[in-house]
Amino acid sequence: MRIAKHAAPTGSTSSLDPRLHAPPSAGGLPDKALRWSARVLVGVSWISGAIFALYIIGFFGGAALGGAGERWNESLPGLYDMAAPLATLAIGAHFAAGGVLLLLGPVQLITRVRQTVPGLHRGLGRTYVLSAGLAGLGGLVFIAGSGTIGGWVMDVGFGLYGVLMVLCAAMAYRHARARRYVLHRAWAIRLFALTIGSWLYRMEYGTWFMLTGGLGVGAGFSGVFDAVMAFFFYVPNLVLAELFIRARGQAGGAALRLGTAGLLAIASALVILVTWNFSAANWGPRMFSGMLEALR
Ligand code: HEM
Repeated sequence: MRIAKHAAPTGSTSSLDPRLHAPPSAGGLPDKALRWSARVLVGVSWISGAIFALYIIGFFGGAALGGAGERWNESLPGLYDMAAPLATLAIGAHFAAGGVLLLLGPVQLITRVRQTVPGLHRGLGRTYVLSAGLAGLGGLVFIAGSGTIGGWVMDVGFGLYGVLMVLCAAMAYRHARARRYVLHRAWAIRLFALTIGSWLYRMEYGTWFMLTGGLGVGAGFSGVFDAVMAFFFYVPNLVLAELFIRARGQAGGAALRLGTAGLLAIASALVILVTWNFSAANWGPRMFSGMLEALR
């Protein structure tokens, strides 16, 4: 199977209009702005996601290796519960798979890698799809077994997030197998937008606390802000991904391309700002304390 950037959809039976997903013609300010703003956002997302992945490996992995799994509950109560071994195992597998997703996602989006080493793209792609399935299913098993800390609203928000992640991974894989590369790319972009939601969730909370001191945040995630956040960490990303897919396609005019490029640039600036704040205040210190646990 060859991955070709500009391949046309072949034999697509999808109800999605392929014109929306076809790549734009090269050149022109709107195209350049769209291309570069997307590159910058993928780049900063990678750095930020990699810091979160290192935190997951350092804190959750380190604590588990050091036999101090109960320390997971410092992050959120109830994650590690030996009375519910299946749910604990599922959430642990979902941590590992989530770390893989954060590290691999951007590599898959680099055009040069796809064109020059298609075998690597295929190999990493299978790992990525499997990890997305595992992260989604692991999270869903945990919700079914233990429930989230925030009750039914959070169960629904996170449950839908898991279902969408499994769906996007399956569709990206299915279209790649059928050589419908334009549709494959569109589903892969949706999947990437979902995976970055996992760390945006934490960073959006951190930023909200910084700005408002926790307005609307209730005990046990029961406040108005918590209810909004159960969906807000992935719905806007999906909307932006959808705009990008349409702006990039032949149906996208210059105004849509420039507008989407502007939104992507604002998103990059926000990611840089909140990553800096959150790494210094939360992930950094926790990561080192988990690693020390493993070394004891
Ligand atoms: C890139 C993908 C993902 C990563 C990196 C990730 C990472 C994490 C981490 C580190 C935690 C521990 C809490 C914290 O430190 O903030 C967590 C908790 C959780 N995650 Fe994920 N996750 C991912 C995807 C998903 C998906 C797709 C679902 C959907 C089912 C999900 C459901 C959950 C649930 C239910 C919890 C526990 C929340 C609670 O106790 O109330 N995660 N995740």
